Amino acid sequence: MRLLVTGGAGFIGSNFVHQTLASRPDVEVTVLDLFTYAGSRSALAPVADRISIVEGDIADRELVDSLVSTSDAVVHFAAESHNDNSLAEPWPFVHTNVVGTFSLLEAVRRHDVRYHHISTDEVYGDLELDDPAKFTESTPYNPSSPYSSTKASSDLLVRAWVRSFGVRATISNCSNNYGPYQHVEKFIPRQITNLIDGIRPRLYGAGQNVRDWIHVWDHNDAVWTILDRGEIGETYLIGANGEHDNRTVVQLILQAFGRDADDFDQVTDRPGHDLRYAIDSSRLRKELGWAPKYESFTDGLASTIEWYRSHEDWWRHQKERTEQGYRERGEKTIAP
Ligand code: NAD
Ligand code: TYD
Repeated sequence: MRLLVTGGAGFIGSNFVHQTLASRPDVEVTVLDLFTYAGSRSALAPVADRISIVEGDIADRELVDSLVSTSDAVVHFAAESHNDNSLAEPWPFVHTNVVGTFSLLEAVRRHDVRYHHISTDEVYGDLELDDPAKFTESTPYNPSSPYSSTKASSDLLVRAWVRSFGVRATISNCSNNYGPYQHVEKFIPRQITNLIDGIRPRLYGAGQNVRDWIHVWDHNDAVWTILDRGEIGETYLIGANGEHDNRTVVQLILQAFGRDADDFDQVTDRPGHDLRYAIDSSRLRKELGWAPKYESFTDGLASTIEWYRSHEDWWRHQKERTEQGYRERGEKTIAP
């Protein structure tokens, strides 16, 4: 199988490439990646001699057409992925997430190539903190931020291309991922690398917001399950029952560093900050037989902390620039 992986130099995509090479000897991988600030050549370095890497934009329709024409399947991870960046500068999100997805859909339509679309639970908006409900495949779309609205737009394009043109596509919407190779702008790696650097973790507002955490390897395992056995035209939600509020996550990280539970700063909250995400993944479990392997968030967090401790060469050059970005956008301590 000749597999085109867009965004294969990013967090989830690079783990997907590693996992695929380790478990699927019959798959030939080509990565298409623009190598934005979030793309990492060194994440692919250990496997660079076993894959093809093309530097380019998914919105470049000629390039995409030629790569898709020689592929049997496409897994589309490439995206602008950070909510805070989308609030500061939304255009790259429209360009990559909407126009880029359109360009891929036109190519897979022309060449009748199997397509899997990677998306997020954030397309559904948020849930109340005290609401027992979880998102399901039939929850109405209600995105809040430029990031989630462009991801929702891309999902809707996929659905329309399936219905109107018979494109052989599936969609997955996954909850928040953690694990190796995640950019230090994101919540968990930001706090881990802060603590390595002797900086106090930074919690947006009171830290009551809830995210449903899943290890990136479990996410990618689910993606392969859908590629193998998913029904064309269908959507699958991916989640591992990993709901925790942000304060608890910070305190678990502090505990792993042997620090006091209140050793963090509360900083300016994110405008429009979604309260809670929660995934009901029973469809994927019942119909396709998938189950997460990383049952314990605390264990997954411990191995992720260990990974950041032992891979400082991977993240160090991104750290100061990322923190400067947060400062320039006005992040201020509101309570110690
Ligand atoms: P990331 O930001 O770490 O990586 C994105 C990758 O896409 C980078 O390598 C970047 O260089 C590349 N890219 C950006 N614009 C491009 C363009 N125009 N052309 C080609 N490549 C481009 O993101 P991630 O966290 O790995 O997320 C991957 C996918 O998973 C995204 O579609 C995201 O919406 C989705 N997702 C992420 C999470 C999460 O918790 N991180 C959860 C659910 C779904
Ligand atoms: P993030 O990793 O940006 O993912 P998302 O916005 O897609 O959920 O943030 C996860 C949660 O952590 C979110 O509620 C915002 C919060 N957060 C902090 O409290 N402090 C931080 O420094 C960051 C980056 C995020």
